[in-house]
Amino acid sequence: MADTIKVLISEEQVKERIKELGAQISKEYEGKSLHLICILKGSIFFTCELARYITVPVTIDFITVSSYGNGKTSTGKVSIIRDLTEGIQARDVLVIEDIVDTGRTLSYLMEMLKERKPASIKLCTLLDKPNRRTHPVDVEYVGFEVPDEFIVGWGLDYAQNYRNLPYIGILGDEE
Ligand code: PRP
Repeated sequence: MADTIKVLISEEQVKERIKELGAQISKEYEGKSLHLICILKGSIFFTCELARYITVPVTIDFITVSSYGNGKTSTGKVSIIRDLTEGIQARDVLVIEDIVDTGRTLSYLMEMLKERKPASIKLCTLLDKPNRRTHPVDVEYVGFEVPDEFIVGWGLDYAQNYRNLPYIGILGDEE
């Protein structure tokens, strides 16, 4: 039986908001270069779309941090599966995430990256579930606040599926 997915935010709305974020970031980093850190796998689609709308010089690196297994709930453990390939010392870093939920992953990751002495480090997330926060994390740029539902699309998965949906959806029970 197929999962049911309800559209929460349309493709057009997502793209328009990412364009706005790109313009805001470009303005705020004017005269600087920006080093984007894409947190795999979830933020790959958002990072690519956002980067297209950033007009200051951009470099990109990737890190894989996992706190979730294949289920719908967190296992409670954060681990680095694949580290960055470049140093970030003295660089202006923008960490790109698909969603901040409990904040466990990002609070851990941001502290770890700050120890590498970047010139600055900020966080940009496409989606935020502020009501779910158990670990405080400073989020500079937020695309949308979303309700406490199981969200898929734009990089967010259920058992590795649905990351490529062009809209943000809510996953329902199987019928
Ligand atoms: C998701 C998401 C964040 C994290 C958010 O990643 O991309 O990294 O969970 O949850 P938290 O705020 O409760 O820590 P996931 O571990 O599912 O890996 P993925 O990006 O490969 O899907």
